[in-house]
Amino acid sequence: MYEALLFLHGLVRWLVLAFGLWALWRPEARPEALFAHALTLQVVLGVVLAFISPLVQGALANLEAAVATPGEIRFFAAEHWVGGLVALGLAHAGLSQARKGKPLDRLLFGLALGALLLSVPWFRPLLRL
Ligand code: HEM
Repeated sequence: MYEALLFLHGLVRWLVLAFGLWALWRPEARPEALFAHALTLQVVLGVVLAFISPLVQGALANLEAAVATPGEIRFFAAEHWVGGLVALGLAHAGLSQARKGKPLDRLLFGLALGALLLSVPWFRPLLRL
């Protein structure tokens, strides 16, 4: 279950990034909605993963030490999910702006994509086979 979710979460990252680029390149209803909804799916997968991840559960057992020590454990215990949630908020704000025909959508999608690029663990495999 853990391995399967890790694989899926790593794979959906590429969908999210591709839809994000598409939404920036063509700010139209379809790519914008795909971006925001794929990101929502990714966050749901991430939250489920956090409940069964030995790494996150180990970090929670000693949160103070995990957060005080820079490295992989702190990245997943702190930076990763915060960046994911910030991106989610920005993408949905962008979608809402786009649906109202307001001009801020592109900026919000760009910021969401930037937050994603900063919070993806690029030190992990690009594709888990
Ligand atoms: C609240 C949001 C999120 C949570 C709680 C979350 C949680 C996690 C957890 C627990 C892990 C695995 C740690 C481990 O056991 O090794 C992980 C890995 C990962 N996450 Fe997230 N995540 C979130 C959002 C995102 C987003 C938005 C992206 C990218 C679009 C993303 C991309 C990845 C990638 C690429 C990995 C590494 C997968 C691998 O090692 O194969 N996550 N995440």
